Amino acid sequence: MKTIEINTGRPYMIKVEEGLLDHLPQLIYEVYAKRKPSFAIITDDTVDMLYSAKVMCALRDGGYQVCKFVFPHGEASKNLSVVHDVYSFLCEHQITRTDVIIALGGGVVGDLAGFAAATYLRGIDFIQIPTTFLAMIDSSVGGKTGVDIPQGKNLIGAFWQPVLVVCDPLTLTTLPAETYADGIAEAVKYGAILDEKLFGILENNRLEQYQDHVICRCIELKKQVVEQDERDQGQRQCLNFGHTFGHAIEKYSNFSLSHGKGVAIGMVMMAKACENAGITPAGTSVRLIRCLNNYHLPCTYPIPLDILCENCMGDKKRAGSKITLCVLKRIGEYALYPIEAENLSSFAGGGLYE
Ligand SMILES: NC(=O)c1ccc[n+]([C@@H]2O[C@H](COP(=O)([O-])OP(=O)(O)OC[C@H]3O[C@@H](n4cnc5c(N)ncnc54)[C@H](O)[C@@H]3O)[C@@H](O)[C@H]2O)c1
Ligand SMILES: [Zn+2]
Repeated sequence: MKTIEINTGRPYMIKVEEGLLDHLPQLIYEVYAKRKPSFAIITDDTVDMLYSAKVMCALRDGGYQVCKFVFPHGEASKNLSVVHDVYSFLCEHQITRTDVIIALGGGVVGDLAGFAAATYLRGIDFIQIPTTFLAMIDSSVGGKTGVDIPQGKNLIGAFWQPVLVVCDPLTLTTLPAETYADGIAEAVKYGAILDEKLFGILENNRLEQYQDHVICRCIELKKQVVEQDERDQGQRQCLNFGHTFGHAIEKYSNFSLSHGKGVAIGMVMMAKACENAGITPAGTSVRLIRCLNNYHLPCTYPIPLDILCENCMGDKKRAGSKITLCVLKRIGEYALYPIEAENLSSFAGGGLYE
């Protein structure tokens, strides 16, 4: 079993191994050796059908009390109304400060259950059991939790670290190919900004062979970033590579484009813009495109430049009239590049296909 310690304000372990779901009681015992908390599992209906029974049986066999709250899958559920239902459920089941929420599912479940854990009784422990590639390598690392409101995605939230993260890559065998590919876009991002060797594995289409290694490597890379900037005030902005343009495109598509696809297109646009601005060596965007093509991720999207820029300036990461872009210096190395709104258009224009 691979164990990665995340040394944030409240440190915790991420465990990665195929078959770990069967060993939950032992892993939980390592965290709660002296007491037996009750567990409230929060999951969506799809994951519920696939994995709840296994998790509940393992916990009950370990002598733990377990209850379960299920909500409809999909981003549309990541809202305050569902959080409210979760609070009611936790009260009805008399979940107290010494009990624990388990987020069983993808990033939607992790963000929502994590936010409920951060706020219920002013904060109770939670355990993440991510079941999508994206949740394993990205959303369950670093303690960002939250929900969407009509004005925008992830606008309400809290930093709240889990007490344990259990990744069982066997759960990925049931993941639809498109959902898997959304997560791959984030893995390509880590490689592009931080680790040329990881990028090489993906570029050479070796993910299938090295999947578990890639999961661990991505977690280690995100660990290094969030340990230095837990509250997203500086270096953590590098994780935004491909996201500024990506979010703008997602929004322009009325969210018909998934996040991973938006990020894939956003990364290619950014690499092209960087090439045109002389920041990145020529040929970098071609490597990115070749890599993303391996996983059937798109690399272009027709968006008018003025709407792209307008949507970028609507990004919640904007500070005054400036926005900080994560640019590529080369594959494996990034730089943060603050840019004035008035200069965004000429820079971003270099990333659009003529
Ligand atoms: N907190 C963070 O740092 C962070 C980082 C990145 C993304 N996010 C958030 O994560 C969310 C996206 O996460 P996601 O891509 O995991 O989406 P998701 O949670 O909606 O999961 C995608 C779909 O896959 C299904 N699913 C999950 N596991 C499955 C499995 N093992 N087998 C079959 N189906 C399965 C789900 O039911 C869902 O329909 C977004 O809301 C995004 O804002 C958060
Ligand atoms: Zn992302």
